[in-house]
Amino acid sequence: MKHLPELHSQFDLSEARIDRGQLVERRLSDLAGCFEDEDSFAKSLAKGNPLIYQVSSQEPGNGLGDMHFGIGMLMPGRIGDEYYLTKGHLHESREAAEVYICLSGTGAMLLEHEQTGDVQLVPMTSHSFVYVPGYTAHRTVNTGIEPLRYIGVYPANAGHDYQTIAKRGFRHRVVATTDGPQLLLRESHS
Ligand code: F6R
Ligand code: ZN
Repeated sequence: MKHLPELHSQFDLSEARIDRGQLVERRLSDLAGCFEDEDSFAKSLAKGNPLIYQVSSQEPGNGLGDMHFGIGMLMPGRIGDEYYLTKGHLHESREAAEVYICLSGTGAMLLEHEQTGDVQLVPMTSHSFVYVPGYTAHRTVNTGIEPLRYIGVYPANAGHDYQTIAKRGFRHRVVATTDGPQLLLRESHS
């Protein structure tokens, strides 16, 4: 059976790109304010401005019931003891959930419910799903030594609210310890 071209897309796992995808790249400088240790952030930035993560996504339609999806790749590394992370966001349509499909690498999804403050650190390992419920801020961290690759699928009307996170920040952070990754309260959280 011949696929309609706009309904079928190939993705390149190693490069984390989808055919016809829109590419967003986030470098270290784009993550100002996301890490607790500002001195380590400034020192790292003085040495260079590496790519921290990228997302290649498709938005096939914006009608009721449509879906958007993207493949992300988050590099391994740390600022001080804090693992490389995505900016993190709430969905503009707060009720919109999302499904992540973890493809390769080792990491975790930091989830904080906007109203109840409930927090969870959900493992992201290859061949696993993470369900992100609505009303929940979500941020991906790479706790491993290889790029973390995943696919996210979400309702077309989800939208991305970065401002609430930029203003309030996450209340927790994920740090490296001798016992492995640990969830700590962020000291600077207001
Ligand atoms: C989409 C979604 C992911 C993220 C990606 C990058 O709703 O959750 O595709 O967009 O992990 O993270 P942010 O968007 O927080 O920079
Ligand atoms: Zn999302």
